[in-house]
Amino acid sequence: MLPSIVRAATRYVSPSTVSRGIASSTPVLSSHLFVHRDTDYNNPDVPFEFSPDNMKRIEAILAQFPDGHKRAGVIPILDLAQRQHGWLPISAMHKVAEVLDMPRMRVYEVATFYTMFNRQPTGKYHVQVCTTTPCMLCGAEAVRERLKEKLGIDKGQTTKDGMFTLSEVECLGACVNAPMIQVNDDFYEDLSLKDVDDIIDNLRAGKRPTPGPRNGRTCSEPIAGLTSLTEEPKGPGFGLQAGL
Ligand code: FES
Repeated sequence: MLPSIVRAATRYVSPSTVSRGIASSTPVLSSHLFVHRDTDYNNPDVPFEFSPDNMKRIEAILAQFPDGHKRAGVIPILDLAQRQHGWLPISAMHKVAEVLDMPRMRVYEVATFYTMFNRQPTGKYHVQVCTTTPCMLCGAEAVRERLKEKLGIDKGQTTKDGMFTLSEVECLGACVNAPMIQVNDDFYEDLSLKDVDDIIDNLRAGKRPTPGPRNGRTCSEPIAGLTSLTEEPKGPGFGLQAGL
């Protein structure tokens, strides 16, 4: 005789008797909302058309992909839509689906996966603070708190004057220069809290702070000088057997 638990597992259950449990989404730890709610400024009836210049750009993007694989252009074309409109309304996603002849759901999947797509209006300066592990270990949480204090808003909010939106995001690909923030298209790296103050003060004053590392590095080279590749290269043939 089978144990009772196995008998229960192998018993036929007719589809009409299957009940589904009620599940809720896991808590959202990012400042981005992953569902769409119709509003007066963001609903499928809000018109969106690509400009003639952007239609030419779309043609150039699609020309890079072979027939049958044009959908690979979804990310750059969503980015074009966002740059044209300032953020990415649902009607722009529908337009992208139409241009690429792909189901709207496939476009939603991409637009909701990447935090680079802003599905709500943002301020003039979109300040994104990375708090993934390397940045977190190097002080990103203090950077985030300083930004909240300096801007007077919480993550996911926009200042009343429409100047700044603050978002907390996952890795922005500059881990070697942690901690870092992104403001619109610019990266500010190797930050101290004073650098955070300087950057926000400059933006408030209408200036564009110089992007890049703030600790004297040019890129992501070691701050204390080279630790490898310190000798002259040996040249072709080095280490080969004499007979070769
Ligand atoms: S962890 Fe912050 S940029 Fe990668």
